[in-house]
Amino acid sequence: MTNLADIIAPISEDEFFRDYFGERFLHIPAAATHKFPNLMPWPQLNAIMSQTALWTRETFLMTLNKEQVHPNQYCRVRDLRGEKAFTPDPARVMEMVKRGATLNLLYIDSLTPELRGIANALREALGMYCQANLYCSWMGVQAFQAHCDPHDAWVFHTEGEKRWRIYNGRAENPIRHDMFDRLMTQPKPEERGDLVADFVMKPGDILYIPRGLYHEALALTPGTVHVTFGCFGTVGLDLLNVLWPMLVRDKEFRTFLPRLTDPKGEQAWAKRLKDLGQKIAAVVGSTDAQEALKAFAKDRAKTTSDYDLPKR
Ligand SMILES: [Fe+2]
Repeated sequence: MTNLADIIAPISEDEFFRDYFGERFLHIPAAATHKFPNLMPWPQLNAIMSQTALWTRETFLMTLNKEQVHPNQYCRVRDLRGEKAFTPDPARVMEMVKRGATLNLLYIDSLTPELRGIANALREALGMYCQANLYCSWMGVQAFQAHCDPHDAWVFHTEGEKRWRIYNGRAENPIRHDMFDRLMTQPKPEERGDLVADFVMKPGDILYIPRGLYHEALALTPGTVHVTFGCFGTVGLDLLNVLWPMLVRDKEFRTFLPRLTDPKGEQAWAKRLKDLGQKIAAVVGSTDAQEALKAFAKDRAKTTSDYDLPKR
């Protein structure tokens, strides 16, 4: 079974957690023996893409001239028991590819044993939610400008060569929220910072980029493929997910707040909010809330298991 030590070798886990995790990028050039030769060579990519029924317009994306292509341009509409389903049509997809479109396949971490092995290794070692996305782009085409991501990125380069540039600018703890869209995708030069590394990724190379660090990639060879495993840790805001079901049981939180049209309403309103705030603080500090958040975090980082039929 794959584990983190295999992924980061020759760097040790101690060294990784001490010097890189959450702090610095790490480029691990391919070893003499390719660590994950079956991760996503061209035949594998063709095989998964050809399973057209697996894909939807949410998981199969195309980008042309830095703009997302509308699914109507490469999908066929199928009728699935009365529901409309958008399935990529290989001939139409290839028309877009001939025009230089980048392929972006999302949530692929369960699709092959190799993808499952790496995703599970990262979940197990880091205790983070992990999903894999694939990027296939063509020489001279840059799908994304310098940007940063709301997650730590583990990039596994599998085909062709890509030039990566890393900057020293860093967004402060970005999350997936409208508020961070501009900052993550269109940074100003002073936000992006200065170029600190410029290197070529080849098949077998692995790159770790901590959340928020600006980077960009450009295909150097006719066709290139890489798979990025995006890892999200649990944050303080996730507390809100466990607080709601706990607070809903308390009738004080279901009570109408004082009437603001009452002359004394404002005062009563402020007092009530203060009382509720104290109650929230007590709930957050309780073992129940801490256990609930731990359970939430562990559930998100759960590894997926393989089927073993006909065993039951
Ligand atoms: Fe990225």
